[in-house]
Amino acid sequence: MKYTKPQVVYHWLTVLMILVMVLTGLAFRFDWTGAWVIQAHQVIGQSLILVLGLRIASRVALRALHQSTHKVWERVASHVTHVALYICMIAFVVTGYVSASGLNTPNLLWPVDQTFARSDTGETLLDWHYSLKWVLLGLVALHILGALKHLLWDKDDTFTHMTLRSRKD
Ligand code: HEM
Ligand code: HEM
Repeated sequence: MKYTKPQVVYHWLTVLMILVMVLTGLAFRFDWTGAWVIQAHQVIGQSLILVLGLRIASRVALRALHQSTHKVWERVASHVTHVALYICMIAFVVTGYVSASGLNTPNLLWPVDQTFARSDTGETLLDWHYSLKWVLLGLVALHILGALKHLLWDKDDTFTHMTLRSRKD
């Protein structure tokens, strides 16, 4: 067994939430719709912090279950990409949270100090929040290519590690 059912649910829930975050973030930045969209971005973003916390906690606690039969280079490549994806998601929520604290009326449970959020450091974090979408795009592209390689080229059961249907292992 590679991942437990809750871990599979966390993975796909995270994917869905990130998709919504990218769309609502861009909709706000480029004025595609009304101001409600940045409120939705913050509410879903705070829920994402919770899901991500649960996901990382369950991954750390159940590390021993994650055994692999892949080649060494595949294990290294996927491990590096996975760790980078986790770092990117954490960086997104941290920079986003600080940026949102600098809004006139933040929709946050515990906004950080507004003077800090609007300081030079806060502005830098906002710049990072903008740039991170390109990092995420690159990492997700690599990640999807890896998944497709196993599904279509190697024709092994790697993809089913992240599905809920019954698995051979
Ligand atoms: C994986 C999580 C997240 C993703 C993918 C994401 C994505 C984005 C994107 C694409 C934008 C539009 C700016 C641009 O890049 O061109 C944006 C803006 C913004 N995000 Fe996020 N975001 C995430 C998490 C968060 C969180 C957790 C918060 C706060 C609770 C947040 C608050 C904001 C704010 C306030 C802006 C508008 C900044 C401004 O232009 O003033 N984001 N986000
Ligand atoms: C926002 C998009 C995505 C993010 C952030 C993401 C993140 C991750 C992370 C961090 C892992 C490692 C889990 C762990 O060991 O803790 C993982 C595993 C996996 N993901 Fe994604 N993922 C995304 C989209 C996708 C998509 C679109 C697919 C399918 C094409 C996919 C298929 C898989 C598979 C099959 C695994 C298991 C790999 C293995 O057993 O070694 N992911 N994902």
